[in-house]
Amino acid sequence: MDIDTLKDWKRTNDCGSLRRDDIDREVILMGWVNRRRDFGKVTFIDLRDRSGLTQIVFDQEFDKTSHKKAGVLRNEWVIAVRGVVTARLAGQENPDLRTGDIEVKVKELKILNETEVPPFQVDGKVDASENLRLKYRYLELRRPALFSNLATRHKIALQIRNLLTREGFVEVETPFLAKSTPEGARDYLVPSRITKGSFYALPQSPQLFKQLLMVAGFDRYFQIVRCFRDEDLRADRQPEFTQVDLELSFANEDGVMDVIEGMMVDLFPAILDYPISRPFPRIEYQNAMDIYGSDKPDTRFNMELMDFSDLLKSSDFKVFTDVLEGGGVVKALVVKGGASFSRKDLDDLNRMVIDSGAKGLFWAKLQPDGWQSPLAKFLAPDCKGGVEEKLGAIEGDLILFVADMAHIANEALGLLRIEIGKRLDLAKDGTYSFLWVTRFPLLEYNSEENRYVAVHHPFTAPLEEDIPLLAERPEAVRARSYDLVLNGEEIGGGSVRIHSLGLQNQIFRALGLGEEEVREKFGFFLEALSYGAPPHAGIALGFDRLVGIMVGAESLRDVIAFPKTQRATCAVTDAPSKVDRDQLAELGLSLTPP
Ligand code: AMO
Ligand code: AMP
Repeated sequence: MDIDTLKDWKRTNDCGSLRRDDIDREVILMGWVNRRRDFGKVTFIDLRDRSGLTQIVFDQEFDKTSHKKAGVLRNEWVIAVRGVVTARLAGQENPDLRTGDIEVKVKELKILNETEVPPFQVDGKVDASENLRLKYRYLELRRPALFSNLATRHKIALQIRNLLTREGFVEVETPFLAKSTPEGARDYLVPSRITKGSFYALPQSPQLFKQLLMVAGFDRYFQIVRCFRDEDLRADRQPEFTQVDLELSFANEDGVMDVIEGMMVDLFPAILDYPISRPFPRIEYQNAMDIYGSDKPDTRFNMELMDFSDLLKSSDFKVFTDVLEGGGVVKALVVKGGASFSRKDLDDLNRMVIDSGAKGLFWAKLQPDGWQSPLAKFLAPDCKGGVEEKLGAIEGDLILFVADMAHIANEALGLLRIEIGKRLDLAKDGTYSFLWVTRFPLLEYNSEENRYVAVHHPFTAPLEEDIPLLAERPEAVRARSYDLVLNGEEIGGGSVRIHSLGLQNQIFRALGLGEEEVREKFGFFLEALSYGAPPHAGIALGFDRLVGIMVGAESLRDVIAFPKTQRATCAVTDAPSKVDRDQLAELGLSLTPP
């Protein structure tokens, strides 16, 4: 098979751009054969590049030579054509294609490359397994939809870079070969050849370096930066992912929120033509748990959880009164129009609640003749009336109750809220709702490690008024931290930092770290704090998650060119892989059999 060369051919258009206005123009297009339909005298080919498809026509009566030559073409061959833009015959237009009004009649064909039979069809009507698609990711990336996600990702990054630059931020790169930064995951380690037996840790975030830049007087830092965390993967997690990381000196919570709100107000209209209003609502962590049963509530719809413990403690219903006497709560939410839920719907929801660790679910359908519910006969009319009134429940609605310890009831109802939001399509695609969740607990008890650990990271400042509780009730201390939530996903987290050496040491002690351990791990950082650290605060946005929401992706893999598989491998290169004995020896390493 002879392969043609481009010679003096120059592309005039990409495959997504020709319209009615271009009719009668001579054009040169280049791309891949997406699909070919042969009708003897005429052959149609959909020519594809990253921008879309154009129908090109090889017509025996128009140009015999190219029609004959086109006979060998197969899917995914690379070709160039010179031809004339023509209107499609009336009735033959394709409204699904942006170029669907026209086609290009070919005068000359160049075959630029042929191909092996691809392992799956790029124009995938029948889709291949995800593993196969990831192994041949460069073929999957030929799909314009995936390219479009990555092109939008680039635009979002550019928009953010420009905005932050206008706001006086300077992008600074920080080391990848560094020391462990505690963000709560396992580290990826890199052995040192020069200092055998020693390891770098790939950063879980640039946290300590960005704080050092504040000590250095850089004032406003940002970085669009890769972070590495060895943790169990889910659809919303990757072992290497990207943050929009920033830090500000002489700023508190408001200073950080101001920058981020300004960023979103700039970004969403530019990319999605969607206006965002500010300020974003703020809710304290404990209130978010009480009202939504989640620390990342989806606020595209209401459906708040309400507490009926007071109202129901004098009821005759033993399940409720037992739970209340045991220090628990009875909480409920209302599903508007939910009286039409079937027995099976209710069984599914009940199972969900039980899987989440709660004891179960009581339901009440508000029918024309009153409550249809296992509870009906146990609750007095004024009690039912009180419940209806507080929830705003009317005929046709469904009320769901969970009685349990507060954190269990909140979590169960929070899950129900999200599930019902999905079933009733309350969280509309194409709408965006931001929320700040603030004042998370500073510390939580980790029973495996038998000590308190930082909920955010150990450099987060406690709320001043809670500092006295550090010794007696560490779990009651609130942090000056904040998460940014978008449509029920945590897309960012940050905090006001500790900038005094004394307080930082006090927190390390509360975390049960010994003086020796602190000096070894964080000595350099504590020393920096002792040389005039300004008050500072910051945040990091999960860039992949933000992009994912903005392009409507189902998984982070749809917005990352070469993502890792569920088993944290790179399917394209087959990493991680074995290395030579010599390479290990050079690093001073030897392997023990697994
Ligand atoms: P945090 O650990 O909350 O904060 O991370 C910030 C944001 O990064 C995103 N994220 C992830 N995205 C994809 N895959 C992952 N494995 C993953 N892990 C986290 C989330 C999260 O909100 N140094 C602090 C920030 C600061 O205090 O300034 C930090 O890294 O969207
Ligand atoms: P049981 O008597 O345990 O079989 O429960 C009967 C029904 O009551 C089931 O639908 C349970 O899910 C529900 N249920 C039991 N305990 C609770 C509780 N504490 N809160 C809400 N529902 C409950």
